[in-house]
Amino acid sequence: MQLHLSTWPEVEAYLAKSKAILIPIGSTEQHGPNGLLGTDALCPEIIGSRAGDEAGILVGPTFNVGQAQHHMGFSGTITLRPSTMIAAMMDWAQSLAKHGFERIYWLNGHGGNIATITTAFSEIYHGVSFDRSGANHPPLRCNLRNWWELPGVMDLCRQLFPVGEGCHATPSEVSVTWFGYPQAVKHVAMTPRIAPNGPILDADDYRRRFPDGRIGSDPSQASIEAGEKIVAAAVKAVISEFKQFAAS
Ligand code: NI
Repeated sequence: MQLHLSTWPEVEAYLAKSKAILIPIGSTEQHGPNGLLGTDALCPEIIGSRAGDEAGILVGPTFNVGQAQHHMGFSGTITLRPSTMIAAMMDWAQSLAKHGFERIYWLNGHGGNIATITTAFSEIYHGVSFDRSGANHPPLRCNLRNWWELPGVMDLCRQLFPVGEGCHATPSEVSVTWFGYPQAVKHVAMTPRIAPNGPILDADDYRRRFPDGRIGSDPSQASIEAGEKIVAAAVKAVISEFKQFAAS
């Protein structure tokens, strides 16, 4: 069940039986020569929407621009400052809380977002703690889950791609997007086959170190079939974890 594809009476009816919502959160940033700019937003969206359909979980709109300053040397990347992202996440959370949501499960697709999301949670909780209205607040809880860290998923990715998984523009994430959008499949030769590794600093430094955008990966190994397996494992894990979180 997707918020964007629901009417307000349907959301009101959902709230009568559940106070929990899943929000995919990611980034709009370059993902190497064959990966989509939306990869980090599309992966949690593809997994989240399938979990929503299978288990009747309400899935909110994707928060699809995040912390991507280091990718600004590549065309198409869009980034938010940490302070902007935190402010926007607070407004999303407070809007949902106003309607009665008490559990927000943020399914994240971008490692660079983690520190900012965690800080945003702290700001969200500060908002509740500092409120002296005397209102007896319902317990608002946020949960962060990186999709690649869902139980069983990382093991599966390593099994599918024992060499060249890397850490940016990985064959696993490209496979997930190709499963969701088969029309996006592109066959591009990678030179070198496996990209270099190194630190992530500013945008110019990144482009010098990682000229085609990849870090440590060989995404030419990506396939729709691998994406299907990863999504199936991730959907199963999300449903189980979301249900526990909703009941917590
Ligand atoms: Ni990514």
